[in-house]
Amino acid sequence: MASSTITSTVKSPKLLKTSVNIWFTVVVIGQFIFALYILGVYGVNGLAGDFERWNASTTNGYVPKDIWGNVFFALHMALAAVITIGGPLQLMKKVRSKFPRFHRINGRIYIISAFVISLAGLYLAWMRTMAGGLAGAIFITINAMLIMICAIYAVKFAIARKLAVHRKWAIRLFLAMSGVWFFRVFLMGWIAINQGPVGFDLDTFQGPALNVLYTCSYILPVVFAGFYFKAKESKLPKAQKAISIFILLLTTYIAVGTVVATMGMWLPNL
Ligand code: HEM
Repeated sequence: MASSTITSTVKSPKLLKTSVNIWFTVVVIGQFIFALYILGVYGVNGLAGDFERWNASTTNGYVPKDIWGNVFFALHMALAAVITIGGPLQLMKKVRSKFPRFHRINGRIYIISAFVISLAGLYLAWMRTMAGGLAGAIFITINAMLIMICAIYAVKFAIARKLAVHRKWAIRLFLAMSGVWFFRVFLMGWIAINQGPVGFDLDTFQGPALNVLYTCSYILPVVFAGFYFKAKESKLPKAQKAISIFILLLTTYIAVGTVVATMGMWLPNL
């Protein structure tokens, strides 16, 4: 995996490269499990016409008589599976260099999906009652805006053949698109560390801890990418070491959150 991940194209010190590759490997495994959950719960039950089972892990998946809401939810789920599988593949250098045609087609699908999943998500967030209330809707809206901005810039620089800049925006896009996955994993990590739901109300799904987690999941990864690019290009060993240690600590937290989310949220609903 190490030689096939996102850092391979640019020279960077070993520790930074290794830490990013470990991070990416954990993220790929975690997103693959999330994709299996999406396909199992929403895909299999949807194809079987058993739409009520969409509500096993979300309160407003299938709402009788809300035809448009259900259509947008189904579209949102179909694209969620597509991008959760296609996103990591798009960043793997080996896939890029061995299957350039796949990279181009998958890239187009990923970009179009970024807009459609965000617009469908915005409809669900504002036209239905959403878990997390107003704060949840505002934060996910910021995430949708970030996704669309990163997608526009990734396309713009790909068309201009400025591939190094395109790659940076593609990584930012991947991080923004992974926001909902980060949120689930960070939340389950938080619950595991505190041995329960601390800092928010489980019934209303609102509270300060969730606002912090939304920020860490939906916004900060995109901001952090900028620091990472700067540290990598700066050739300052101290900055690179600091970023590497941060990535390794974060990866440990993500690994814990992924295990807890898999065991407590995704596997039981399959
Ligand atoms: C881009 C990657 C995204 C993925 C992979 C994704 C995935 C999912 C999944 C799997 C669910 C069902 C709930 C569950 O079983 O956990 C869901 C629900 C939902 N998503 Fe997304 N989503 C993404 C982006 C967005 C965006 C950008 C928005 C808003 C603008 C959004 C808004 C919603 C809403 C409102 C629901 C309904 C459930 C609730 O009340 O929380 N999603 N999404």
